Amino acid sequence: MAKTLFDFDTPIDRSGTASVKWDKYGNRDIIPMWVADMDFACAPAIVDALHRRIDHGIFGYSNPPAGLVDATIAHLQSEYEWKVEPDWIVWLPGLVVGLNVVCRAFGREGADVLTAVPIYPPFLSAPVNGARSTVRMQMIESNGIWRWDMAALERAITPSSRLLLLCNPHNPVGRVFTREELQEVADVCARHNLVLCSDEIHNGLILDADKRHIPVASLGEDIAQRTVTLMSASKTFNLPALGCAYAIASNPDVRSKLKKAMAGIVHHVGLMGYIATEAAYRDGKEWQVALLEYLRGNRDLVEREVSKMNGLHIWHAEATYLSWIDARALHADDPVKFFSDAGVGLYDGALFGAPGFLRLNFACPRPLLEKALERMSRAIEALRR
Ligand SMILES: Cc1ncc(COP(=O)(O)O)c(C=O)c1O
Repeated sequence: MAKTLFDFDTPIDRSGTASVKWDKYGNRDIIPMWVADMDFACAPAIVDALHRRIDHGIFGYSNPPAGLVDATIAHLQSEYEWKVEPDWIVWLPGLVVGLNVVCRAFGREGADVLTAVPIYPPFLSAPVNGARSTVRMQMIESNGIWRWDMAALERAITPSSRLLLLCNPHNPVGRVFTREELQEVADVCARHNLVLCSDEIHNGLILDADKRHIPVASLGEDIAQRTVTLMSASKTFNLPALGCAYAIASNPDVRSKLKKAMAGIVHHVGLMGYIATEAAYRDGKEWQVALLEYLRGNRDLVEREVSKMNGLHIWHAEATYLSWIDARALHADDPVKFFSDAGVGLYDGALFGAPGFLRLNFACPRPLLEKALERMSRAIEALRR
């Protein structure tokens, strides 16, 4: 691989940094590959911007900086040819907050919120937190591709359905939905007068060279009017602890319902989150390109090695730094425990609505990934002996 300006290979010790990912296993020798953050330092341009702001020394209540709004709008225009107006943006401290607020903002208590499994767990809990009910369909897989089951979606819609939650690019199956697939979802929302909430947090992590992220709200005026898009620089630029995300809604009525559901409860975004997001969008591109090249190498390694392991089936991740693995043919009582006993900490598919499946986060230095894959392979061989 061509050397880049950025070093993703040298491990950085995260112990003693209050890392959710690394603290989970304490002193046990388990390589953490569960929660979705990366074991890479973020772009130097972001660290420099944070240093500059810290040196000012005053951290009073802050507005979203005007430069951030400009940088976000320019980013959406240049990456996705999506023209967003400043007042369409509602700043949030996180995407999960956004999912929960959206569920409370639309429809009455008891209304159905539709989504498809497997899915990032807060999609299943946010409707319930908001006194709605989660209606889950199964995604369908054929020829190695996971898709929404549009016929099942049509069947699941009732007069009580008000909101549909979409994740694109998809966590955990790594799909980048095509324009045609997104249009089908948009058409269903129009036919049944549903609000669409599209979580696009993984938008900057497209790994396949022939795929492009398409914000669903950029497809046309009808879908734009009924959509809340949730985005953040946090996943692509590894800033989740800085708490800065945003919703985009071009429809003022949708925005005002969102703001009403947030009022008095949702805390404002922290200053450092704003600063980091602006630096990411303004000056982070070169680092992002290098990151994607590195992640592509890691993904290819994971897919090559896991597909040789008996009892596991892995899908190709078009985007994200997450691999989705079917471990049912391993016949382990508890596949998560099986691999943590072998020294690899994976995420339990049951939380995503898919028991027997696993999610593996490959955003770590390659030598660590190689070690984890060796441990998995050895554990499976020992099982067969
Ligand atoms: C699809 C999706 N949405 C939201 C989040 C979390 O967002 P936040 O940390 O901003 O709450 C994640 C984190 O992995 C995610 O994968």
